[in-house]
Amino acid sequence: MKEGYSFNDVLLIPKRSKIDSRKDIDISSKLSDGIILKLPIISAPMDTVTEADMAISMARNGGLGIIHRFCSIEYQVKQVEKVKRAENYIVENPIKISPDTTLKEIKQKAQEYHFNTFLVVDQEDRLLGLISKRDYALEEDESKLAKDLMTPFEKLIVSYKNITLEEAKEIFKKYKIEKIPIVDKDRKLKGLITFKDFEYSLNKKATRDKKGRLLVGAAIGIKGDYLERAEELVKSGVDVLCIDVAHGHLEKALRVVKQIKNRFPEIPLIAGNIATEEGARDLKEAGADIIKVGIGPGSACTTRVVAGVGVPQITAIQLARKGAGETPIIADGGCRNSGDIVKALAAGANAVMLGFLLAGTDESPGEIFTMKDKLVKYFRGMASSSAYKSKLEKTKEESDYQPIDEGINYGFVDYKGSVSKILEKLEKGIRSGFSYCGASNLKELWKNAEFIKITEAGLFESYPHDIKYLD
Ligand code: XMP
Repeated sequence: MKEGYSFNDVLLIPKRSKIDSRKDIDISSKLSDGIILKLPIISAPMDTVTEADMAISMARNGGLGIIHRFCSIEYQVKQVEKVKRAENYIVENPIKISPDTTLKEIKQKAQEYHFNTFLVVDQEDRLLGLISKRDYALEEDESKLAKDLMTPFEKLIVSYKNITLEEAKEIFKKYKIEKIPIVDKDRKLKGLITFKDFEYSLNKKATRDKKGRLLVGAAIGIKGDYLERAEELVKSGVDVLCIDVAHGHLEKALRVVKQIKNRFPEIPLIAGNIATEEGARDLKEAGADIIKVGIGPGSACTTRVVAGVGVPQITAIQLARKGAGETPIIADGGCRNSGDIVKALAAGANAVMLGFLLAGTDESPGEIFTMKDKLVKYFRGMASSSAYKSKLEKTKEESDYQPIDEGINYGFVDYKGSVSKILEKLEKGIRSGFSYCGASNLKELWKNAEFIKITEAGLFESYPHDIKYLD
């Protein structure tokens, strides 16, 4: 019989290391031409883990978020749009108003969009002026019109061409302004650069597209509305699609991979999940650009209990690496600390996908509540009957067969605060792991990594033992 290993079965053997400073280690990972992660961590498409807020934070920290599919197409598309609008160096479609908009309407718009500045244009889209909070904050008469309150075009600093970051910096510095509208020679509005977006764009760690917008992925299934969903997601600007099904080695899943890849050849496609060499090879041959590995290791999974099926995750990653060849793989599920992430990468993964470790944060969907005097947030498996039912309700899908639960329905995790802090700790742990393995980048980690199988005594020794401590 074959033997399989999971995270707690193995350790990485320390190697002679030339690393002087852990901060110089390059832990980045290329998943496709357009997707280079400075932090090789992806948030799971679970409805208690990734919607827009999580995806925004993941991308700002150098990772990536995959918006879950357990909702209507419209809802999922809105999440993608929110991420794509969160910061773009040049806002291509700034919110515009007519000169006859009343102050009352302007205030309503400010609440709706969470902006305070609007561009005033005529019917031909020619810029007439700009109205910001400073122009109207002290004005009590709400019937006043935009044209009477705005700073007129003549007094604005505008650019007649697209400008680089450096040029924008000079203009912000010189004129001490916060907005630079971009217009053509006829004064027609072409875009807007805001100081806030400019500041964001200085964050070199963020995962961005060519236009400087944050990158975001979205999940689709292989039944029901999956094709329409994929089409709408692509229209909304999604950067990567993820075929996210429990058994990615179903022939139907392979057919859908082919179909989606044919339909949207330019969109990188993640597909899974599989846990074998053959599974990885078949997904790759079907057209998957990135392969997702993991059958049953997840914290909220009961697949192995219910179906008796799975492969311990370290072995699954190693097998998938063989089948995938050069194709990138994502190790999905089962990571409980940064040490597990290092092991997953060392076993051959290009990135890890996390659910539990990122759940319970400010950015994960759902409310914080108290349970036995502790602050907690809800967390559930996506193959649970509660998730299944809520999907049917939200998507109005018909189904005559309800599968058995393969995930926890009503799980909770401690409330953990901001996800950025968690990612920061995980990143430091990953750097430490690379350093012990004498690796200054992922390729070197793959080359140097040598696992040692440990015993139960070894595992006991690996965790803090004997002392009492508060943590
Ligand atoms: P962690 O351990 O990081 O794993 O929480 C996240 C991954 O778990 C998978 N997942 C499930 N697997 N039944 C399963 O068998 C489920 O209900 C379920 N929900 C999530 C998924 O791959 C996720 O990325």
